[in-house]
Amino acid sequence: MTEQKATNVTWHENLVSTEDRCKLAGHKGAVLWFTGLSACGKSTIANEVDFKLHSLGKRTSVLDGDNVRMGLNKNLGFSAEDRAENIRRIGEVSKLFANAGLITTTAFISPYRADRDAVRALLPEGQFIEIYVNASLETCEARDPKGLYKKARAGEIKGFTGIDDPYEAPENAELVLDADNKGIEELADEVIAYLESNGVI
Ligand code: ADX
Repeated sequence: MTEQKATNVTWHENLVSTEDRCKLAGHKGAVLWFTGLSACGKSTIANEVDFKLHSLGKRTSVLDGDNVRMGLNKNLGFSAEDRAENIRRIGEVSKLFANAGLITTTAFISPYRADRDAVRALLPEGQFIEIYVNASLETCEARDPKGLYKKARAGEIKGFTGIDDPYEAPENAELVLDADNKGIEELADEVIAYLESNGVI
């Protein structure tokens, strides 16, 4: 639990409510939380889902691990504490976006169950949709698009997820994608089908 440092602060109700914003958008806000190993396909699938939703006329946004770490979270590394803070901030940002009526796709390894559950707890029931992009370490390591697994195996990167740092797979994800055997397009369609059948869109 992050300490509340600032004192003498009071919550201010906005003139335009979340409900008003969602009415204008024509749908509720939601967070599609993609989690999985580096190179499992999270960012690519999240972007494809974003593209499809946008094409359907939905209001959307994407938050991606590498990008956010070059801006908002540039002062964070990969220790367990820094990863927790990374995910906490993204959680708070995605909550702001959900309150603005956006459907946000996020792509972060988010290796710790407790950190992901803390984000789930920030959002109203049904608005946090955890999507496990399940690709084996073998698959991710064979792809290795950024050459990071190779570096981690050579000891040039310490604390790399899946090599010498843990990844806690979700136990109750809303959706599990078989990224070992299926392509991006098919998996993105599975996400869209889930959103349709669960009344998100
Ligand atoms: S998280 O663990 O805090 O959720 P995040 O998704 O933001 O991680 O960032 C992961 C990305 O950072 C990877 O895709 C990879 O490009 C890069 N990276 C650099 N060092 C590491 C590391 N030690 N472990 C995992 N990813 C790393």
